[in-house]
Amino acid sequence: MERMMTTENRKEQQYGDLFTADRDASRWDELYRDTSTLFNFNMSVRRDRVCDVVFQRYTPEHAILDLGCGAGVVMEKLLQRGYKVTGVDRSNDMLDLSRKRLADYPSDSYQLRQGTCESLPFEDQQFDVILCIGVFGYIDDVVGALLEIRRVLRPGGLLVMSVRNPYNAAVSDLVTGARALVRKILGRFRKPERQSVPQPTPSPGEGDASPRPPQFKIDILQTPQPLLKGVARCGYKLDFFTGFGFGPLSIAGKRLLPHSWNIKLSNFLDTTLDKLGLQKLSRAVGDVSIYGFIKTGE
Ligand SMILES: C[S@@+](CC[C@H](N)C(=O)[O-])C[C@H]1O[C@@H](n2cnc3c(N)ncnc32)[C@H](O)[C@@H]1O
Repeated sequence: MERMMTTENRKEQQYGDLFTADRDASRWDELYRDTSTLFNFNMSVRRDRVCDVVFQRYTPEHAILDLGCGAGVVMEKLLQRGYKVTGVDRSNDMLDLSRKRLADYPSDSYQLRQGTCESLPFEDQQFDVILCIGVFGYIDDVVGALLEIRRVLRPGGLLVMSVRNPYNAAVSDLVTGARALVRKILGRFRKPERQSVPQPTPSPGEGDASPRPPQFKIDILQTPQPLLKGVARCGYKLDFFTGFGFGPLSIAGKRLLPHSWNIKLSNFLDTTLDKLGLQKLSRAVGDVSIYGFIKTGE
């Protein structure tokens, strides 16, 4: 029987089999080995910056969950520094790649479990820090996932989340940028449509006293404001932000510089923004955004 496409499981239909052996699983294993393209380079910087957050703030005694652990690249870095880590992924094929990668590390220093951000196989308040890197863009029930993650975080625990930034394309590609500008200008003159206000629905078991926040989306390419507002409504507060990875400089999708030059240009912009104290601007111009959110309340 043909499977019915519902709006609730749109991303599951679109990406459900993306991280499998016959599709992209091995890509997420291999891309960290070759950092000659800007994208691969950015992914390695992302992994390293996320691990640095752990190294700077947490000791090996803290409980760490790598949620959507993929091929175990973040886990490996943490294990190399003596941390213990739990990895969870929806895809068994990705978990197999993690297993292979981590085979030489002591078996009591890590565990791998199948699970999803929306339904985690853990008791409440188990983890001090949860890393969810490059995962939220594939999730339909973003609010459900944020509440579930919050459930297994200890009070004051940290959620580190990474998304990619749609503005980067507009800033680094002259044609995309011009189109975005025209759309923005035209949008100003369009009559605003009447919007229905989403009604909060109680989450299971919470009753009327604690209504579920209204649903919102996190896309693969995500703008900061809706993300920050939506996450805050789910019981988190922003703790830190870091952005990086400008480029590749292009015209209508055609790259203007060799990858090595793009990487140099991107590094130059990152350090310059940092030196000028303009890190926030990298939210707008960088390709990769990493947010740290602290769980508020109990
Ligand atoms: C782009 S890869 C990133 C993997 C890894 N975090 C990294 O940085 O290399 C996204 C991973 O998220 C997993 N994933 C997607 N949706 C998920 C969900 N709802 N729950 C748990 N894992 C999920 C995929 O199977 C895949 O391994």
